[in-house]
Amino acid sequence: MTQDRHPPDSDSPPDSSSSSSYYQRHIFFCLNERPNGKEACANHRAQAAFDRCKSQVKAAGLSGPGQVRVNKAGCLDRCAAGPVAVVYPEAVWYSYVDEQDIDEIVESHLKNGQVVERLLTPPHLGR
Ligand code: FES
Repeated sequence: MTQDRHPPDSDSPPDSSSSSSYYQRHIFFCLNERPNGKEACANHRAQAAFDRCKSQVKAAGLSGPGQVRVNKAGCLDRCAAGPVAVVYPEAVWYSYVDEQDIDEIVESHLKNGQVVERLLTPPHLGR
């Protein structure tokens, strides 16, 4: 291991520009399953939605560094609103139903930065 790292420049403020972010956006899908078929996002086609999002992001040329990353997640603790996905850095939560909803999230939010208001998770819904 080399020891040639430069010490931080104490006269400079930390770099908070977006250019330092490896991905522009992440979308996390809850794919949680519970034993004995108990209620969870996996019971509502969450895996299919994740797969659809991944393929649509790739088809749109949005995947990769500096762009969008589609990630699996466990329970996001908003089960009552499930199935859910959340987009960062905006921290926008979506409750989706079908492939058309996923396509709209990809086209509107992940591609163009426009929140899909009709799919927003009601703020009071948690676990
Ligand atoms: S099971 Fe999906 S948010 Fe909890």
